[in-house]
Amino acid sequence: MNFEMTEEHIAVRDAARDFAQNVLKPGVIERDNTQTFPTEYIKQLGELGFMGMMVDPKYGGSGMDTISYVLAMEEISKVDASTSVCMSVNNSLVCWGLETYGTEEQKQKYLVPLAKGEKIGAFCLSEPEAGSDATSQRTTAIDMGDHYLLNGTKNWITNGSTASTYLVIAQTDTDKGHKGINALIVERDMEGFIVGAKEDKLGIRGSDTHTLMFQDVKVPKENRIGEDGFGFKFAMKTLSGGRIGIASQALGIASGAYELALAYSKERKAFGKEISKHQAIAFKLADMATQIEAARLLCLKSAWLKDNKMNYDQASSMAKLYASEVAMKQTVEAVQIHGGYGFVKEYHVERLMRDAKITQIYEGTSEVQKIVISRNLLRD
Ligand code: CAA
Repeated sequence: MNFEMTEEHIAVRDAARDFAQNVLKPGVIERDNTQTFPTEYIKQLGELGFMGMMVDPKYGGSGMDTISYVLAMEEISKVDASTSVCMSVNNSLVCWGLETYGTEEQKQKYLVPLAKGEKIGAFCLSEPEAGSDATSQRTTAIDMGDHYLLNGTKNWITNGSTASTYLVIAQTDTDKGHKGINALIVERDMEGFIVGAKEDKLGIRGSDTHTLMFQDVKVPKENRIGEDGFGFKFAMKTLSGGRIGIASQALGIASGAYELALAYSKERKAFGKEISKHQAIAFKLADMATQIEAARLLCLKSAWLKDNKMNYDQASSMAKLYASEVAMKQTVEAVQIHGGYGFVKEYHVERLMRDAKITQIYEGTSEVQKIVISRNLLRD
């Protein structure tokens, strides 16, 4: 077993770290305060090749492996989880889904600009009454011969108003249950597509989360991904990889908070010495570093399985379950180590603590990950 990173991996990690620390960090508190989407920085991430990292270069991507994606996601998320969620959705849910299951025409038309970072994508599964219970889709895509007529509402959609290309999951035939669900590519300017209210969120406040409404939107048949009825499996397969991205985001939030707490504990003095020299703090740092390393290994293992064309459904759920719990727990500890300073925005850890919570909710709650893991364990 080889735990050594290649030169390419180190270069990707360093480029992401440099971008996060020097470009994203200066304005991150302001963007969080004002809920400002990082438009300019997403463009720059595209230029760095980070918006279509794993896409084949013939479709405008960087042709990197999933390990590189984990490394980049960790570094970006240490600083700015609002930017990294946009990056993750575009890479894992939209580009991967289109590259793996799209037709050549769909790839040329939609994937190429998304992989280059010229356009942004969104993945639309959740509904007011279908979150964890994703088979209960109320959005309908009625087969009208040469097109589908799309009606319904999607909730909590990342990149909701900034995307140009939306992968929308909808029910075509209710009698067939999840086998009657389709995945459709919807364009921002299709008639009847309405971007609703922006959510005012606890964390990842710079990201762009909206309700979307579809009112008699005519979606051409050629915009369906895969065979008729493939939509639910498409969503599940896509989310398996997406969970590697969100696990890496959670890892980055945790390790970013840890690095800040470590540095602070070596500077701050109390009772005559640096607080890191008090066992109460040193033991916290030991726990943080250990759990973060375990989360990192789970992320990297799931990426390795994916890169080696092995099943990664269980591994990605384990990585997301564990890394998101570590992110929540260890960002709270980072605030505690900072004391009163941790409670003010200037020190960054309170934002990381707020950002951590969503990693236990989106792309499947912790409970959903336990369903996926336990079903895999109990399968005959
Ligand atoms: N790959 C292929 N097929 C899969 C699959 C996978 N990983 N997982 C399930 N399926 C198939 C099953 O085999 C089954 O098909 P068959 O009947 O042909 O065997 C079908 O899908 C239905 O599966 P289940 O019976 O397991 O479905 P379920 O209703 O019990 O639900 C669930 C399972 C795991 C809870 C699923 O509904 C789920 O993942 N829910 C959470 C949805 C989610 O993650 N939402 C996040 C929204 S996206 C987002 O957050 C993006 C963002 O903005 C950041």
